Amino acid sequence: MRRRRSQTESLEERPNEARAARTDRPRSKQTMPKTVLVLGATSAIAQAWMRLLAPQGASFFLVARNATHLDSVGKDLATRGAAAVYVETIDLDETTAHAGLLERAVDALGDVDCALIAHGVLGDQAAGERDFAVAAASLQTNFLSTVSLATWLANYFAAQYHGSLVVISSVAGDRGRKSNYIYGSAKAGLNAFLDGVRNRVDREGVQVLTVRPGFVATPMTAHLSRGPLFATPDAVARDILHAIEHRRDVLYTPWFWRWIMAMVRMIPEWKFKKMDL
Ligand SMILES: NC(=O)c1ccc[n+]([C@@H]2O[C@H](COP(=O)([O-])OP(=O)(O)OC[C@H]3O[C@@H](n4cnc5c(N)ncnc54)[C@H](OP(=O)(O)O)[C@@H]3O)[C@@H](O)[C@H]2O)c1
Repeated sequence: MRRRRSQTESLEERPNEARAARTDRPRSKQTMPKTVLVLGATSAIAQAWMRLLAPQGASFFLVARNATHLDSVGKDLATRGAAAVYVETIDLDETTAHAGLLERAVDALGDVDCALIAHGVLGDQAAGERDFAVAAASLQTNFLSTVSLATWLANYFAAQYHGSLVVISSVAGDRGRKSNYIYGSAKAGLNAFLDGVRNRVDREGVQVLTVRPGFVATPMTAHLSRGPLFATPDAVARDILHAIEHRRDVLYTPWFWRWIMAMVRMIPEWKFKKMDL
């Protein structure tokens, strides 16, 4: 496992011929990603997804804020067959550091096939109702930092005419509920933002995949009692990989959440506002 190398090449220096050649790639079905950037690499869902790619010899650039945890994730991937693993520790709320970070990732991997943005916090809904600073912190992590990363990455992928930008949103963004509307509004904003980015860069050969999981049994939900609607990170990871390979736009995972949320959205507001959700 290697710590990241220094930046050697900016995006503008890439030869036009290489870009042109990449437009010939088939657009109907993506191959399994080989060079992979993961933002929020200590996420349980991200780890499960990376464990599917490592035995195929993928190379990884991993970013997270907990250095010890990140190192153990990197070593695990190396043991499972990853061709190369680079790690960098950073708090992703620091958006001014994003451009340098992403340039170093491209420099280390040489070319990025796929970027997964997985970091997020559930946050304290009750505290956020009383204190705007708490709500703003949630929006910073769950919305603004991802907008910053996705903007840079969409432009990078569009310039090279290929790539998959995969962002973990949530079904919580489908309708605001009193129990988690601060988190949910960040994810709703993300969904609309990604719809627009997709509309802009699809024609450049770039896949933008919005992942909307329901409940997943990860540290984020460790405080909740686990009912039958909870999925495992492994099941969600398999769905994400399948959606990348089939160039899907929006993934509800597990699949039944598409229909649950369709029903939730259909409840009339006069009734919804009286429900305890
Ligand atoms: N679990 C669910 O039920 C569920 C449902 C729908 C959507 N999601 C979404 O799925 C994604 C992954 O979450 P998960 O379920 O895998 O939970 P998780 O294991 O708790 O992962 C969340 C990750 O985000 C990282 N993170 C948070 N803020 C960060 C920051 N400022 N900078 C860098 N890293 C930061 C955390 O790092 P630390 O460990 O250092 O705190 C952690 O590794 C999130 O976007 C979440 O909103 C989860």
